[in-house]
Amino acid sequence: MSRKTEENKQSKSTVSTMKKWRFLLRYLKPYALSYGIGWLCLLFSTLAGLLFPYLMGGLLGADTQGGTMDAIAVLLATSTVNAIAIALFALFGTQAIFSFLRVVLFNNVTENALRDLRNDAFGRLIYMPMDFFNRNKVGELTSRMASDISQIQETLRTTIAEFFRQIVIVVGGIVFLFFISWKLCLIMLGTVPIMAIIAVFFGRFIRKLSKEAQDFTAVSNSIIEEALMGIANVKAFTNEVFNLNRYKENTQKMRDLQVKSGVWRGVFVSFIIFCLFGAIVFIIWQGMLMTQGPSPTLAKEGFYQFILFTIMMGASIGSLPELYANIQKSIGSVEHLLGLISTPTEHEVNKGTKKPEVHGNIAFKNVTFHYPQRKEVTVLENISFEVAENSTLALVGSSGSGKSTIASLILRYYEPVEGEILHQGTSASEMNIEHLRNHIAIVPQEVLLFADTIRENIKFGRPEATEEELIEAAKAANAWEFISQFPEGLATQVGDRGIQLSGGQKQRIAIARAILKNPKILILDEATSALDSESEKLVQDALDRLMANRTAIVIAHRLSTIRKANKILVLQDGKIIEQGTHEILLSQNGTYSRLVELQNLSEA
Ligand SMILES: Nc1ncnc2c1ncn2[C@@H]1O[C@H](COP(=O)(O)OP(=O)(O)OP(=O)(O)O)[C@@H](O)[C@H]1O
Ligand SMILES: [Mg+2]
Repeated sequence: MSRKTEENKQSKSTVSTMKKWRFLLRYLKPYALSYGIGWLCLLFSTLAGLLFPYLMGGLLGADTQGGTMDAIAVLLATSTVNAIAIALFALFGTQAIFSFLRVVLFNNVTENALRDLRNDAFGRLIYMPMDFFNRNKVGELTSRMASDISQIQETLRTTIAEFFRQIVIVVGGIVFLFFISWKLCLIMLGTVPIMAIIAVFFGRFIRKLSKEAQDFTAVSNSIIEEALMGIANVKAFTNEVFNLNRYKENTQKMRDLQVKSGVWRGVFVSFIIFCLFGAIVFIIWQGMLMTQGPSPTLAKEGFYQFILFTIMMGASIGSLPELYANIQKSIGSVEHLLGLISTPTEHEVNKGTKKPEVHGNIAFKNVTFHYPQRKEVTVLENISFEVAENSTLALVGSSGSGKSTIASLILRYYEPVEGEILHQGTSASEMNIEHLRNHIAIVPQEVLLFADTIRENIKFGRPEATEEELIEAAKAANAWEFISQFPEGLATQVGDRGIQLSGGQKQRIAIARAILKNPKILILDEATSALDSESEKLVQDALDRLMANRTAIVIAHRLSTIRKANKILVLQDGKIIEQGTHEILLSQNGTYSRLVELQNLSEA
C-alpha cells in the first residue's frame, strides 16, 4: 500500500470515529434486544465476580480455632464459614448461568450482524464500477476483507465484553478497596495509573507495527492468488522462480515486521509483569505492616480481601492494553470496510433512470475517452458512427487501436469523457444501466467461465431459462455435440475458470450463453481468434445464427466475418480512419485494402 493512501487514511480517521461506531451499530441494531440482554447478563456475571474476593477473603480470614474463643463463638464462626461457603457456591452458579447466556447471546448477535455485513460488503463490491477493479487488486481486496471481518468478529464476540468486564472489575475493585483500607487504596492508585498510561502508549505502537504486517499479508496472499490463477502461464514461462522470489521478498518483510513487533510485545509483557508483580508485592508488604503491631489498622479478613482484589485487579489491568489494542485494530478494520462500502457503486455514479425500449440502434457522437487511471493517454478520439437496427458493424484495426474499448463503452463499463452514446436517440448516460445491459450480450476476447457445471455457466446468460431452452441454446451454439459426449453432460464441471475445456469449447459455451440471453445488441470480441479452421466453422455457424435479427458489433480479424458486415470501421490509434462496406473500402485503396492485402485479415 502506498504511503499516500496510508496518509489519507490517517487524516480521515480523526474525523469519523463517530461514523465508524454508527456504522457498527447499524449492523447491531436489528438484534438490539438480544444484545441488550447479553449486556445485562455480562453486567450481572461481572458484579457476581466482584463478590468473589470479598466472600473468599471473609472465608480465609474467618477465625475458627482461636484459643481464646468460647464454645458459642466457635459455633457462630463455623456457621458463618458454612454460610459463606454456600454463598460462594450460589455465586458461582449464578455466574455460570449468566456467563453462558452472555456467551451465547453475544455470539448469536455477532454472527447475525456479520452475516449482514458480509452480504452488504459483497453486495457493494459486485456493483463497483469497472475503474474500481482497475485500481484495486482482487486478491488483496478479498484477503483484506476477510481479515477485517474476522477482526470485527473477535471484537464483537469477546473483546468488547472482556474489556467491559475488566473495567468494571477495576472500578468496582477500587471502590471495595477504598472501604477496606483507604490508605492501601491510595498506595495502589499511586502506582496503577502510571502503568496504565505507559501500557496504552505501548499498545498503540504495537498496533501500528502489526497493521503494517497485515498489509504485507494481503500483498503476499494476492501474489499467491495471481500466480495460481495464471498457473499455466507461470509454467510456460518457467516463471516459478520469479514468482517465488517476489513472494519470498514479501514474506521476508512480513517476517521482519512481525519479529520487530514481537520484540516490542516481549518488552511490553515483561514490563507489565515486572511492574505488576512489583506493585502487588509492594501493596501486600504495606498491608502486612498494617495487620501487625499492637494496634492493627486492618482486620485479617480485610487483608485477605485486599490481596484477592489486588491480584484480580492486577490481572484485569494487565489485560486491558491488549484488549484495547484489539478494539483499536477492529476500529481500523471498520474504517477499511466503511471505506469499501461507502465507495460509490455504479448505480450511484450513473444516476440514469430511463428505461426506453432498446431496438439496437446505436450512435456514437464525438466520443472521446481515456481510462480513468491513465488520464494522459487518449484511447478514443472524437469517434462518431451509427449502427442501424439489426445490422452488423465490424471493427478493424491494429492491436491497441481501441476496438475492445468501444465494446466496453457500449456496455457502459466506463462513461465517455466527451461526447455521448445514443440508443434510438436516448443518451446512454440517462438510461438505467441494468436495463441497458439486459439488452446486450458479449462473447468476450477472453472467455471466463465459473468453476461450476456447464449448465450453470450457460444459464448465466439467463438464470430463469428452462432446461429445454438451455439445451436449445447449446445446440444452436454447436456446443451440444461435445457436451453430450461428456459422461456427465451438462453437469460436467469446467474447472477453475473453465480450465478443463478447450478454447473453442469455452467460446461455444460463451456463445450459448449469449444465445440464451437473446439480446438486442450482440458484441463479439475476436470470438473466433483462438480456433482452428474446423472448430472455427462450427463457431462461425453458431455466430451467424446468433447474429441474425439483432444488432451485432463484431471485432474480428477474419475476412469472412467482416465481409458480411453492413459497415466496417477501421480504427487507428483511437481514431476512425476509414468507414464503409467491404467493397467501398477496398476500392478506396486505403488502409483497409492494405490490411486485406497484407493478410492481416486472414482469409477463411
Ligand atoms: N483497463 C485499462 N486501463 C488502462 N488502459 C487500458 C485499459 N484497457 C485498455 N487500455 C489501453 O487502451 C488502448 C486500447 O485498448 P483496446 O483494448 O481497446 O485495444 P484493442 O483494439 O481491443 O486491441 P486488441 O486487438 O489487441 O484487442 C490500449 O493502448 C490499451 O493499453
Ligand atoms: Mg481487444
